[in-house]
Amino acid sequence: VTSPDPSAMRADYGRDSWDRNGPTEHWWPLFAEWFAARVEFCQRDGGEPNAMVLATADAAGRPSARTVLLKGCDADGLVFFTNYTSRKGTQLAANPQASVVFSWFDQQRQVTFGGPVEQVSADRSAEYFASRPRGSQLGAWASHQSQVIGSRADVEERYAELDRRWPKEVPLPPFWGGFLLRPDEVEFWAGRPDRLHDRLRYRQEADAWIHERLAP
Ligand SMILES: Cc1cc2nc3c(=O)[nH]c(=O)nc-3n(C[C@H](O)[C@H](O)[C@H](O)COP(=O)(O)O)c2cc1C
Repeated sequence: VTSPDPSAMRADYGRDSWDRNGPTEHWWPLFAEWFAARVEFCQRDGGEPNAMVLATADAAGRPSARTVLLKGCDADGLVFFTNYTSRKGTQLAANPQASVVFSWFDQQRQVTFGGPVEQVSADRSAEYFASRPRGSQLGAWASHQSQVIGSRADVEERYAELDRRWPKEVPLPPFWGGFLLRPDEVEFWAGRPDRLHDRLRYRQEADAWIHERLAP
């Protein structure tokens, strides 16, 4: 079996940086601007603008990463929803720290976040759960996320059974809900020529956000 050789693949960067406006005092306005640009980009070129890679680690420090969808963001941080008993859920219970990467390399951009993670309130989870399509609600109930299962039919049968059990409203599963990553570090990366990329890091010190340029 042969595969394309990645060692010779390179792209030329240099489209933009935040220097046009100068960095903002807080990471949030810059992220809001970049996220809006990402949404526009995906509307044109396809893709899920709110997809992000979430890295967690277990109590022994072994990391794992997976894609989740951003479902809320403001100056407090990033919200995503998942099964609290999944691998990531268990890891976050044991070690409530995470890192998130938005890999927007087709726009020559990347944003990374790091910081503590907490569960959102059950009210907030219930509100979001109620807004999901019925199929997704039943899917959340039917899946013991990250457990080994015998076959696809196992979850499909469970799904059908739950569909009959709740002909109208589907309640919020007690094992499902949101997490909020409250970043204490946010880094913006913009591709520039000759690998002299721009990196701008925000880090929280007491109540203030410090921003610094990092070597590429
Ligand atoms: C585009 C995309 C979006 C996803 N969004 C979510 C999500 O919002 N929540 C979630 O629990 N899993 C989501 N998943 C599935 C996760 O990547 C992962 O398979 C699952 O959460 C189990 O991860 P874990 O075993 O590490 O806990 C998504 C996968 C993809 C490819």
